[in-house]
Amino acid sequence: MNSGGSVDLQVRLGTLTLRNPFLVGSGPTVKNADQVRMAADNGWAGASIKLAIDPQPYLSFPPRYRWLKKEKIHIFTAEKRLTADEALAVVGEARAAVDDFAIIPTITYDGQDYEGWGRLARRFEEAGAHAVELNMCCPNMSFNLSSTGTSTEKSTGASLGNDLANLPRAVRSVVDAVSVPVIVKFSPEGNQLAAAGRVALDAGAAAVGHAGNRLGIPDIDITRPLDPVYRLQDQVTLGCISGPWLRPLALRDTYQMRHYLGPDAFIIGSGGISDLQSSVQQIMVGSDAVWICTETMIRGFDWLPRLLDKLVDYMRSMQFCTIGDMRDLLHQNIASAQELTIHDGYAAVDPDTCTNCGLCWKIGHCDAIRHDEGTTVIDPELCLACSTCVDVCPRSAIRMVERSAAGVKE
Ligand SMILES: Cc1cc2nc3c(=O)[nH]c(=O)nc-3n(C[C@H](O)[C@H](O)[C@H](O)COP(=O)(O)O)c2cc1C
Ligand code: SF4
Ligand code: SF4
Repeated sequence: MNSGGSVDLQVRLGTLTLRNPFLVGSGPTVKNADQVRMAADNGWAGASIKLAIDPQPYLSFPPRYRWLKKEKIHIFTAEKRLTADEALAVVGEARAAVDDFAIIPTITYDGQDYEGWGRLARRFEEAGAHAVELNMCCPNMSFNLSSTGTSTEKSTGASLGNDLANLPRAVRSVVDAVSVPVIVKFSPEGNQLAAAGRVALDAGAAAVGHAGNRLGIPDIDITRPLDPVYRLQDQVTLGCISGPWLRPLALRDTYQMRHYLGPDAFIIGSGGISDLQSSVQQIMVGSDAVWICTETMIRGFDWLPRLLDKLVDYMRSMQFCTIGDMRDLLHQNIASAQELTIHDGYAAVDPDTCTNCGLCWKIGHCDAIRHDEGTTVIDPELCLACSTCVDVCPRSAIRMVERSAAGVKE
């Protein structure tokens, strides 16, 4: 136990101290000052305000979302972006309304010159921003257009995040224009997450992170394949997928950034975080802080205080005093495919628990399971010890047995 009982959840992002690692990710739950106030009242450390695009967003629609709860997928294409003036008003109002809470506008400059990024960021600093976040992550802008064969002159969101030649021009322009920390949020789409993070940090960014979300095609009804999953929208589209479905991919995204950027980079992870388990896992693969969006869309903000209590209890029980004590624990121990230690063994069936339901008999890659005379038996010599049958069995009637030089070990 952490006997002193002192757990410090604060994290330091450049000159900014966050009271805990939980930031509301840019999205529809932080597009006005009332939402920001609610997040602050419920203990969140800050909010990345809904994306502002200047000049006027060239893609901005009334939102059409689907929360496919069985699959734990959130998906959307149509989304309302803010204008610079709308977002500036949110920042000003929020700044007057909340304390000890980081207000982080997220911006995209969509003019022809890169200096415009700095001019836009400066306006947000003057309005009271504690940090400025550059959106190099949205796959629903020019990345979507080029992915669906629509030509586009503009390189925005995820496309600019993948343009390693021009990316530093935008970042440097902002770093030179403001004194608050600059955060750059990337997309895993395009596969340059880690390299782009390095470019942004070298250009002076205080922190980098990733959106986690991927462009995908949602479930379609194969009897009416042209009907979109979205309500009150005509077309099937590539959509931005977020929510718990993303977790394994988002953990890998953070891991890759940490692996490549080293221990000193401040990294913000996101993708499917909704509880203690998914938050701690993100920190353990390398996140200093996390962005959460989808869960705030579905459940609002008021579940965070309970999560913070659970986090403190968990950290005490694990003897972690700070977020830094847990950060990278998993990251450091992720082995390469060459480094595996594989134990010899086989699967064994407990005849008292097995009901001969037959599910394990069907496993296509297995020659070891026999079912004669009303019993299920596994031949240890034919068993590859892959363990699929343990997962398939609905009765937990199968266990793996290790064969060692000293005999069998369970
Ligand atoms: C409806 C919706 C709108 C979003 N809008 C933005 C945005 O404007 N800017 C941005 O950087 N990320 C945006 N995101 C991405 C989220 O901030 C977050 O990084 C991503 O969804 C993964 O986290 P989650 O699974 O907790 O949602 C949006 C996500 C959703 C679902
Ligand atoms: S562990 Fe794999 S090979 Fe062995 S019995 Fe089970 S499914 Fe078959
Ligand atoms: S799946 Fe489990 S219960 Fe069913 S036959 Fe196999 S061991 Fe028995």
